[in-house]
Amino acid sequence: MHLAALHTPSQIQLNKDGNLKHFITIEGLSKETLTKILDTAHSFINDQNQLVTNNLLEGRTVMNLFFENSTRTRTTFEAAAKRLSANVLNIDIARSSTSKGETLRDTLWNLEAMAADVFVVRHSSSGAAHFIAETVCPHVAIINAGDGRHAHPTQAMLDMLTIRRETKKKFEDISIAIIGDIKHSRVARSDIAALQTLGCQDIRVVAPNTLLPHGFEHYGEGVRLFNKMDEAIQDCDVIITLRIQNERIDSPALSSQAEFYKMYGLNQERLALAKPDCIVMHPGPMNRGVEIDSSIADGDQSVILHQVTNGIAVRMAVLALSMQGQLQEKGLLEAIAV
Ligand code: CP
Repeated sequence: MHLAALHTPSQIQLNKDGNLKHFITIEGLSKETLTKILDTAHSFINDQNQLVTNNLLEGRTVMNLFFENSTRTRTTFEAAAKRLSANVLNIDIARSSTSKGETLRDTLWNLEAMAADVFVVRHSSSGAAHFIAETVCPHVAIINAGDGRHAHPTQAMLDMLTIRRETKKKFEDISIAIIGDIKHSRVARSDIAALQTLGCQDIRVVAPNTLLPHGFEHYGEGVRLFNKMDEAIQDCDVIITLRIQNERIDSPALSSQAEFYKMYGLNQERLALAKPDCIVMHPGPMNRGVEIDSSIADGDQSVILHQVTNGIAVRMAVLALSMQGQLQEKGLLEAIAV
């Protein structure tokens, strides 16, 4: 994939009116845009904490294109699209003609010809969603559902919605620790970008040196690095634990999973160092007994399953807003009003 000649992802995400057209990455989006996504997601949850259903995307077609495995993201995108009354097609990539040598471009052009309005794309190559949005199917709204170790923007937004709803604090006033395999994590990268944009001043990144990306010390405003877990967790409002992304690691980054748990696993003793009302988050999939103890994953401070539900609201918001941008481009805006 040749990305050198492409615009930056942030340049192609908004249309000329400043509305979301594609959702590729958090980087480059303003606080206003992120807040609009959060507010729209919030509007899809009623006073009884239930997700609403409406017909905003009636007659529109959302295609899920997952070139990499997923439980939460694929299913919650499907649930979100159905709650907006869209047609949803889950393309079975493993059984598609890509296995017979058809190029990605040809596969996508054929799917576009089947009247696709939105492609939700997960791919193991960093830059895949951007490449599709800019060079293959610019007239379809492209939503990045995770590309390599680059970005997972809807995960970041559901994490932000969860933090906002659960802590009821301003992002400016929150101390957050992100613990684990930062180097290979698209979630960590997107979460940090979203937290910085929303004004968080105290982002503590906790990992052994082997699981930190090169140059991370220059990551930017509000970010501090810690090698020692106990120091990092002190008085935190939010802890996000991350899985070790073995599928993206070429050479051993750890002596053993048991050693990782001893040094960086979140257990009761460590959680007690955070604020008493600290919430515990994990994007999943979760490895119990490696990055997190089961008693915490299932405990009172865990909001891990709330993240999943919030994921539906956020994905409804991103689908509705990006479709609004696409329809605006095509002069069909009267069809939808969010
Ligand atoms: N958090 C997340 O992306 O989970 P899935 O891989 O199950 O979609």
